Amino acid sequence: MSKIKMKNYSYKMKKTCFIIFLAILFSQANIIAQQITLNKNNIDEIVKVMTLEEKVRMVIGCGMPMGGDAKFPGTAGRTYDIPRLGIPSVYFADGPHRLAMSVRRDFDSRFYYTTEFPSGTTVAATFNPDVAFKVGEALGTEVKDYGMDVLLAPGVNLMRNVLNGRNHEYYSEDPLLTGKIAAGFINGVQSKGVGTSIKHFAVNSQETNRNNNDSRLDQRTLRELYLKGFEIAVKESQPWTVMTAYNKVNGKYTSEDKGLTTDILRDEWGFKGLVISDWNAGQDAVASMNAGNDMLQPGQERQFKSIYDAVKNGILDEKILDRNVKRVLELVVKCHSFNNYNYPNETDLKAHATVSRQAGSEGIVLLANNGVLPIDKKINQIALYGTTSYDMVPAGMGFGSTGFGRYTVSMVEGLRKASYTVDKKLTQQYQKHLQEEQKRLFPNGRPPFSFTPPPRADEFLPTAEEMAAQVKLNDLAILTIGRTSGEAKDRHANEFYLTKNENALLKQVSDAYHAAGKKVVVILNICSPVETESWKSMADAIICAFQPGQEVGHCVTDVLTGEVNPSGKLPVTFALKYGDAPSDNNFPFDYEFKMPSFMMGSGMNVQRDQKEVKPKESERNVDFTNYEEGIYVGYRYFDTFNKEVSYPFGFGLSYTTFDYEVISSSILNENCEVKVKVTNSGQVAGKEAVQLYVKAPGKDLNKPSKELKALAKTKELKPGESEVVTLIWNLMDMSSFNVKTSSWVLEKGIYQWLVSASSTDVRCSVNQDIARVKTMKAHNVMAPQAEIKTIR
Ligand code: BGC
Repeated sequence: MSKIKMKNYSYKMKKTCFIIFLAILFSQANIIAQQITLNKNNIDEIVKVMTLEEKVRMVIGCGMPMGGDAKFPGTAGRTYDIPRLGIPSVYFADGPHRLAMSVRRDFDSRFYYTTEFPSGTTVAATFNPDVAFKVGEALGTEVKDYGMDVLLAPGVNLMRNVLNGRNHEYYSEDPLLTGKIAAGFINGVQSKGVGTSIKHFAVNSQETNRNNNDSRLDQRTLRELYLKGFEIAVKESQPWTVMTAYNKVNGKYTSEDKGLTTDILRDEWGFKGLVISDWNAGQDAVASMNAGNDMLQPGQERQFKSIYDAVKNGILDEKILDRNVKRVLELVVKCHSFNNYNYPNETDLKAHATVSRQAGSEGIVLLANNGVLPIDKKINQIALYGTTSYDMVPAGMGFGSTGFGRYTVSMVEGLRKASYTVDKKLTQQYQKHLQEEQKRLFPNGRPPFSFTPPPRADEFLPTAEEMAAQVKLNDLAILTIGRTSGEAKDRHANEFYLTKNENALLKQVSDAYHAAGKKVVVILNICSPVETESWKSMADAIICAFQPGQEVGHCVTDVLTGEVNPSGKLPVTFALKYGDAPSDNNFPFDYEFKMPSFMMGSGMNVQRDQKEVKPKESERNVDFTNYEEGIYVGYRYFDTFNKEVSYPFGFGLSYTTFDYEVISSSILNENCEVKVKVTNSGQVAGKEAVQLYVKAPGKDLNKPSKELKALAKTKELKPGESEVVTLIWNLMDMSSFNVKTSSWVLEKGIYQWLVSASSTDVRCSVNQDIARVKTMKAHNVMAPQAEIKTIR
């Protein structure tokens, strides 16, 4: 072979070897790419091998098929699955008070029941984060047992106005109580290895035009009130996910506001989880991606297209998409669905009913008691008035809706189980009346599902003869007043008041029984406050049960009999009348809605996928709502401006009495601490919720006359028994947000620490001198577009 030929030959050999080498390498890489499957340590590599389409699918949900998900009918949504990469779907189901899924499934004779726990407001009324933990734990167990991964709860928006249709899902008018109860709940749910979604982030205070309403408020109010509950809960419980709200805040959809979902939530509070949108919230999918609203639920094709095109066209940096995908995968690897948990598909309903009953009765607030409760042992025969006594309200309506529970315990059942005799003739009369009312209200049959509250039966008045016979027969009268509320519709101001027939019935019962020397107890089975001032003198005792879950009849009976000594306290003020609270006029209080009203504003003219239709002129309280009350929400207003109320925030009676004594108070490092000795000074065992309010110097910035900063609940104390409870909070919790400098500022001066039994019942106080101003810088984000004039 010539030299030239030899060279050519070896060149060809080398080339062939190189090609073979490359081919082997390529096929190896291919095998690796094909074989790589998700585990908790290879998320970055997984993102690298995902196609653009897969990535975009990953940041939007899988849509909301009619009838819900095929695997878990009636649940809210799931994440996209990519079998080739070992990525399963993980499943979201609604809360807050029950695991919401269909009770029946196609071709399946089984009933998939879940427990109806007390409403958020009722849980908050326990003033006991341990109770919230237990409710969370039981709910978390149900989520796990039924194969779900994330419970879309808790709802922690502030009760800005008593008419908000979703108040029952929320905890309180106070952010500290809200945050502490939420943290307890989240820790409880997540202790079962399933996630939560704290919602609706943020300033979601009305249902009217909720998908487009712009909440306009100053940054101080935003920080100190509307974000505070979220902040406490995020820091104390790290929810797996945060759900942004439908509404806008100061002109931007919450899901599209980086200031909210990144600067504040992640940067300032250290949130580590996934941010998801509320269902079909927001408008601009690309803006959401950029903002750090990592995932859009339930997912729409138009969102897929706009994110996909934006990456292709260089409008959205793929790195942003990768970051969001990574966060989704970080959620996925934590979930039971990823770990192939072999869920039993049934749950311990009996054990959870006990949790529901205990929590529900601890959330009952005794508002008045002129010596009638607990019911005297001699009393046996009871007359039950009010249609709600026979048709109790376990919790509120909504996607996490009521109405699918296994049962709701009525007052009749509750009392009978406790060995009382309930007036049979009266019961039959009510049953007949309720049937007739159903026909009148639903001539075409009751709708199988509704997330707005269906109308409730009206009251009837017994004739004079009937009443005389009832008074003669019965030892005691109990009258229940019920109110429901639900998603998609705010309450009308009229619903704050008793109806004409309710008033007339109460007067008739009160007059007749009192004339015979017999007592009358009123039970409020309500979503949020009603007017009480005008009629409370007609009752000998008033029990505010809120909505204590499926065991409602048992819960109330437990308190009536003294089996449970009431220890709930009001998480919300009961005003004298609608119009007294400064938010009342800046709320859509007098709208008569026939239909769900969540898209009723002029914003409705802007159809998402379609051309923009010229919007109507903006309508106050519909298109936008001005938070003119500023920081003066609830007791912060009534207390500071010395306005009379019917029942103040934090109020609740007991069958016993408690003495308070401050044992010590200190500021050590950054922690403020007060130790209080609480002694049961009465005759029966009971628990007490101790509240610590702070009165700040308020020289540089106006301050409410007092603000709740810590709470503690005693165990059940026997008569004469004491317990030392410790109230702890952080120094900077007493600071105010200075809008001018965008920082939290702790003024120097004398701070009064008020150890209290309610917002108006201060038992002891200590003064603490703060010698130096302390500040903490924050992001200057979410500013209003124009100045909001607030009261001072
Ligand atoms: C509600 C959320 C709920 C979601 C999923 C929305 O309409 O605002 O609270 O979690 O639907 O059902």
